[in-house]
Amino acid sequence: MTEFKQRIFSGVQPSGNLTLGNYLGAIRNWVTLQKTYESIFCVVDLHAITVWQDPAVLRNATREVAAGMIASGIDPKECIIFNQSQVPGHAELAWIFNCVARMGWLNRMTQFKEKAGKNRERASVGLYVYPDLMAADIMLYQATHVPVGEDQKQHLELTRDIAQKFNSDYGTEFFPIVEPLILGEAKRVMSLRDGTAKMSKSDPSENSRINLTDDRDTIAKKIRKARTDSEAIPSEIAGLEGRPEVKNLISIFAALSDRTVAEVCQQYGGQDFAPFKKDLAELSVSVLGPITEEMKRLCDEKTYIDQVLKEGSEKARILSEPVLKQVHNIVGFLQS
Ligand code: TYM
Repeated sequence: MTEFKQRIFSGVQPSGNLTLGNYLGAIRNWVTLQKTYESIFCVVDLHAITVWQDPAVLRNATREVAAGMIASGIDPKECIIFNQSQVPGHAELAWIFNCVARMGWLNRMTQFKEKAGKNRERASVGLYVYPDLMAADIMLYQATHVPVGEDQKQHLELTRDIAQKFNSDYGTEFFPIVEPLILGEAKRVMSLRDGTAKMSKSDPSENSRINLTDDRDTIAKKIRKARTDSEAIPSEIAGLEGRPEVKNLISIFAALSDRTVAEVCQQYGGQDFAPFKKDLAELSVSVLGPITEEMKRLCDEKTYIDQVLKEGSEKARILSEPVLKQVHNIVGFLQS
């Protein structure tokens, strides 16, 4: 068995505001993991254009996501932070993976079905092969671990299938079989308006999500308006069954306060929602407030952000080039 260097790769799309879901499902975990793993964090602009993006808006969102990562505590001196399009190897390896992955595999991807909706004929081809590009992102660095929210699990299973098929087709152990890291008490943060739908930057309802750019009053207002039900808060986890909105708010509370869902149930069990929501609003503001402020400050420092992305891209390119060269060799591309 080939021994691979323990390395993390993960990414966020610059397609709208960063949400509490991105923060709790992904970025917050990265901040902890960066201490133990060599880490590469990517603003995945090639993924973003699988649906239409206004160029000026995309440029800004790319900087904003990078600023959000840094403001949350990702250290650009210790980790690589870059935007995907500055490293050509992503698109190149994705092409090779397009030839490895099977149509049947992609046809099963639930995210494509959700995003394409009823109008599949009009979805971009990029949206369909998106998971191959995601596999390429990870494999371009032979990353071994990928910290993501639960919604990305199926894509990571596909990444494992692609790596396995490549390895077996070419009789090699070149690509590691990646391990997903789906961590914390808020692996899937749900909409504040509908506990059965994921909190998402593309939800038309602003009140469904907390953005990392929201100010204190907006955060407090959104939590006050968050949907609950007419029963009291349960004192045990079992009582959350069939109450998705309540489960969601308790999980958010647990994740933000570094406690378990069971502990939060124990503290608030038997009470109605008003005091809990008040505490949740205060907790959210105390955790997110400093990040929002720092993010705003960094967004005004465009030169600094662009420099971080440039340096990160150079480092990423240096790591990716020998991998791509070996892939060319394995596949049989003549290199002169
Ligand atoms: P994206 O941009 O949709 O989300 C970025 C990260 O945030 C997590 N996330 C959530 N976690 C919990 N609850 C939520 N409501 C929530 N919303 C988002 C996502 O799971 C993700 O970890 N395909 C990816 C980006 C990507 C990528 C990669 C990730 C491209 N290449 C390679 C890992 C490795 C995406 O669209 O994430």
